[in-house]
Amino acid sequence: MRKLLLLCVAFHVSAICLAQVKVQYLQTENAVNPICIDAANPRFSWQLDAGDKRGVMQTAYELKVSSAKGKHEAWKTGKVSSDQSMYIIYKGEPLASGQKYIWQVRVWDNAGKASAWSEPASFGVGMLNAADWKAKWITPGFVEDSVNRPSPLFRKGFSLNKKVASAMVYITSHGLYEAQINGKRVGDAFLTPGWTTYNKRLQYQAYDVTNLLQTGANAVGATLGSGWYRGHIGFSNQKNYYGKDIALLLQLEVTYTDGSTESIASDDTWKSSTGPVRFAEIYAGATIDNRMQVKNWSTAAFDDKSWSGVTVKDYTKNTLVATVNEPVRKHETFKPVKIFKTPKGEEVIDFGQNLVGWVQMKVSGNAGDTIRLSHAEILDKPGNFYTDNLRAARAQDIYVLKGGGEETFEPQFTWQGFRYIKVEGYKKDLNAAAFTAIALYSDMKPTGTFTSSNDMINKLQHNIQWGQKGNFLDVPTDCPQRDERLGWTGDAQVFSRTATYNMNVHNFFTKWLKDVAADQYTSGSVPFVIPDVLGNDKNEQGGSTGWSDVSVIVPWNMYLAYGDKQILENQYSSMKAWVKYMQDKSKNDLWNTGFHFGDWLFYSVNDDTDGTSAITSKFLIAQCFWAHSTQLMIDAARVLGKKDDEAVYTASLASIKKAFVNEYVTPNGLISSDTQTAYVLALEFDMLPENLRQQASDRLANNIRRYGNHLTTGFLGTPYLCHVLSRFNHADVAYRLLLQDTYPSWLYPVKMGATTIWERWDGIRPDGSLETPTMNSYNHYAYGAIGDWMYRVVAGIDTKEEGPGYKQIIIKPTPGGNMTNIEADYNTNYGKVSSHWKIDGGNLLMHVEIPANTTATVYIPAANAAGITEKGVALSSAPGVTMANESTTGYVAVNVGSGVYDFSTAKP
Ligand code: BGC
Repeated sequence: MRKLLLLCVAFHVSAICLAQVKVQYLQTENAVNPICIDAANPRFSWQLDAGDKRGVMQTAYELKVSSAKGKHEAWKTGKVSSDQSMYIIYKGEPLASGQKYIWQVRVWDNAGKASAWSEPASFGVGMLNAADWKAKWITPGFVEDSVNRPSPLFRKGFSLNKKVASAMVYITSHGLYEAQINGKRVGDAFLTPGWTTYNKRLQYQAYDVTNLLQTGANAVGATLGSGWYRGHIGFSNQKNYYGKDIALLLQLEVTYTDGSTESIASDDTWKSSTGPVRFAEIYAGATIDNRMQVKNWSTAAFDDKSWSGVTVKDYTKNTLVATVNEPVRKHETFKPVKIFKTPKGEEVIDFGQNLVGWVQMKVSGNAGDTIRLSHAEILDKPGNFYTDNLRAARAQDIYVLKGGGEETFEPQFTWQGFRYIKVEGYKKDLNAAAFTAIALYSDMKPTGTFTSSNDMINKLQHNIQWGQKGNFLDVPTDCPQRDERLGWTGDAQVFSRTATYNMNVHNFFTKWLKDVAADQYTSGSVPFVIPDVLGNDKNEQGGSTGWSDVSVIVPWNMYLAYGDKQILENQYSSMKAWVKYMQDKSKNDLWNTGFHFGDWLFYSVNDDTDGTSAITSKFLIAQCFWAHSTQLMIDAARVLGKKDDEAVYTASLASIKKAFVNEYVTPNGLISSDTQTAYVLALEFDMLPENLRQQASDRLANNIRRYGNHLTTGFLGTPYLCHVLSRFNHADVAYRLLLQDTYPSWLYPVKMGATTIWERWDGIRPDGSLETPTMNSYNHYAYGAIGDWMYRVVAGIDTKEEGPGYKQIIIKPTPGGNMTNIEADYNTNYGKVSSHWKIDGGNLLMHVEIPANTTATVYIPAANAAGITEKGVALSSAPGVTMANESTTGYVAVNVGSGVYDFSTAKP
């Protein structure tokens, strides 16, 4: 027996010694092998794969970068003692525009073992200087139909005389573009160049088009749509916000096998015309007339003699920037789940999911046959196709057939938010095979999954994720269907933390935050929507509490989720300017002026005879968010080592809180707005002295009971509601709210058949009637902010602030409600973190996974360590598990490193 044991130990030790850590998932600027970045000093990150080996840390790394051309060394770090595996800043020779670089890394682990060199990773450098652009801005050479503004086509034939080794094309536009080379689409991105503060920052994209070119005759073409640039945008029928003309800028860089290069760039030698896209607007939809198709227009064989020339414009190139975020791409597809006639006799298709994108239709018929596809999110009470809530958005694609066989239609330069389509003009019976709904959204990597033993909660999670998919379409929008689809700051702020769990939104928000800063008013006020299409310095449309705080809250949330200091550095002056604005508007440390949306869409009743409506003073809210943003400035200043700022904000925060208590809180701790949101904000942001906090949370719990275990919070109170309850020992009440399925609650829409998160708690009322069409979206992610509590408290996956980006992890599940099983998995920058828990008879089983190069504190719900085991071994002798030096009521805390752990304890 002893012999066997020794043998086992020997085997185990040698296995550990042999097992070598692997380096994988190399990223440059948070992307795998990006082909076009314009950071002068890009940042490198990687993951360690140590299998399920416990306690693996990196102790050193070595990184080398070489230029792909000429293969010379651009940077070499030598062996650096460090556990840093995220955001190593390039400090080599200056990078050159248009060049590709290769890099590799190896690491040493805490057993002193070196890994092998990683597989090579690469990155491409874009146009670092405006002068790198040889291309000229071109607009159509014909007089545009100024009403319908059909999409122009541009083309250029050219010949390449040698063998092509590689080729990249760089493209951007005023308006939206799609490009082709030799009859084939360039790339798989849609709605490019995306939406930014165009007048200050216009993104271009790069595509590797080596495989589209050939020796000899070639052609390149591009078509444009009005898009955000000059199309209808905003709810006041506004057009031409950024300019009246659409324009193209395109530069193709070819490298031959002999090393020589050649550029083909947009200039006065290009030709222009129009094609089948006779009209395309984001809200309205597209009109495509296949009779106007120009066959082979982007091929060399095409004769463009009858086409017009182009007009060269001297629009600036100084605003051009490489693209930071993932482009919009096609994702899930849906087939009809039901084809039916409504009571009104209209032919309708149900795709079963409220999604954002469009419908592909296959059809055959006669030339001139016209088919209209209208989009809707819901049917009304009698079951008819309902579009009143789309307001001025026509949301209709119109297709005209050319005849002579099957034709496939998909719209261009538009998208719709819908679950149903109404089909008009389709001369045959509708058949499911002919219609496919395609979801489009920014191509963010999925990161998190959350499943539970409760089906309704799983549906809620599904709805939260689809709310995110539908509204993360290059910018975080409020809704994707009506005449809005704008980057509403409040909505983005409240949902941002949840968003980090479901998908990797690092680059998505990095890009958008640059626009927050770019569009911020000189006063420091932050616009209601970003990109700002509602106001300007002279006519500010911003400054609302909880909305403008986006400028501070989102950078901080990204810092927490990704540990990226640079995002704080880059946003710091914008953050500071917003907090200064509040200070400037305040008097005697009270900010009680200005316009505010308040706790938007809180619970209210119509004939409010007894004050049931949950109205929270807007100025009280403003004081709370001012404090919160100031607290985050203290935190950010600390992280960035700005000691003076830290001291100034610390002093300011004390005054803000003091003024809050004087103005809004009675000596007994009653808050003047006796609402859930008032208590939630006061508690979440630590506005009350310690001795008043528990009783305030009890008042909150009582308030919830008074409403029959219902929430009454709007946009600003909702995200923190359950967090505050669980923090102050009312997790049971939080669970009651989570599991409540009558209005108002998270599960009420689920019960009513929602497949996304609704704008209002009662978008469809209990009697089946609909809320006012003037503001009733069925795809609005804000209330989906409960997702953060589900991941962070129910499953219990969080990051420590001192080890942001999940370098130091917290696993602290909160069993409760009627849940018997929770499984949350989350792909952090370091690798997968899992927290699963299960009630198994009298036991609580916890399955925890921690990635290499991180540490975690795991909180096991138990009164003491005595009855806890890990993989059947008493906690005290479990390998790699040490008792943490802290006590949290109801939990036993242990520290672990990487590995897979299975804890068992008595059911709490
Ligand atoms: C949007 C919101 C936004 C709000 C401002 C609405 O029209 O859809 O979600 O935050 O206006 O209160």
